[in-house]
Amino acid sequence: MNSKIKEAVKLLDQGGLVAFPTETVYGLGADATNDTATASIYEKKGRPSFNPLIAHVDSTAMASKYVQITPVAQKLMDTFWPGPLTLVLKRKTDCTVSLLASAGLDTLAVRCPNNPIALELIRAFGKPIVAPSANKSGRISPTTPEHIIQDYGDEAPFILDGGACQVGVESTVLLCDEDKVAVLRYGGLPIEDIESLIGPVIRPERDEDAPHSPGQIKSHYAPHLPLRMNAAKASQGEALLGFGHSPAATLNLSPTGDLKQAAANLFSMMHQLDCDKYTGIAVMPIPMRGLGYAINDRLKRASQPREK
Ligand code: TXA
Ligand code: MG
Repeated sequence: MNSKIKEAVKLLDQGGLVAFPTETVYGLGADATNDTATASIYEKKGRPSFNPLIAHVDSTAMASKYVQITPVAQKLMDTFWPGPLTLVLKRKTDCTVSLLASAGLDTLAVRCPNNPIALELIRAFGKPIVAPSANKSGRISPTTPEHIIQDYGDEAPFILDGGACQVGVESTVLLCDEDKVAVLRYGGLPIEDIESLIGPVIRPERDEDAPHSPGQIKSHYAPHLPLRMNAAKASQGEALLGFGHSPAATLNLSPTGDLKQAAANLFSMMHQLDCDKYTGIAVMPIPMRGLGYAINDRLKRASQPREK
């Protein structure tokens, strides 16, 4: 076993925290079965404790020890795991994952990340690792180790370095009940891919009775600077975050208009532009299809007035 992984497993065994790469963003992980360790995640992030956490597993077999897997969930896991898809399922009655991770609900979110370091870590640890994104609460999600260090400075956790995350936005979160599947958060796996496998799912913008993910704070992904969406050009002092051909862009999410590339660049470019060189960040329009749903959702949150 790689010595860094060994060190990380030792830390997790002792109830400590480990930041690790996934294909979406970096996670701040703890032993999912240890209440105190799980609590220290909320403390470290300064996160409101009503927001439940994702338990990261290395396989469907590991997930099946803790949650009840419905036939639809099984199909989704078989097709999209490992990958950027989180499934919210009923906890088994003997589930040993900390109740704090479920924030008082009878469900648990599980996900198998598609990253070799994350998978090796979970496999070596032998139990699920609960992890939110490794940013401080209310800050932009980290897609590189440097982002974590920017947020925490001297207080930075132990970090397994996996370089830049490929997907760049968090996982798609789906609630799987016996009788319905509902989108709780748009993310790295396009809803179109999910619907082509299992048929239509309940979507928040379309269906009035769609459930809300707890703790979806409006200003969750906030940069320090004000952010403006659907901007044709920058005003005086603003940085322009481009999409598609744009010679005026300060930085461009994807000059060719590729949504996958834009998602991968999103948080890192927001980090780069969020500095005192500018008075604000203007973002060009992003089309609503595929990963565009997740990108626009994150931008909308980042453009909300801060909740402190
Ligand atoms: O890509 C990702 O999902 C990253 C990486 C590290 O895996 N993790 C991540 O975690 O984004 P976090 O804690 O920032 O977001 C978890 C989302 C939240 O929107 C939360 O409300 C929802 O999942 N969630 C977790 N457990 C839930 C549950 N039992 N019921 C409903 N929503 C849940
Ligand atoms: Mg987060």
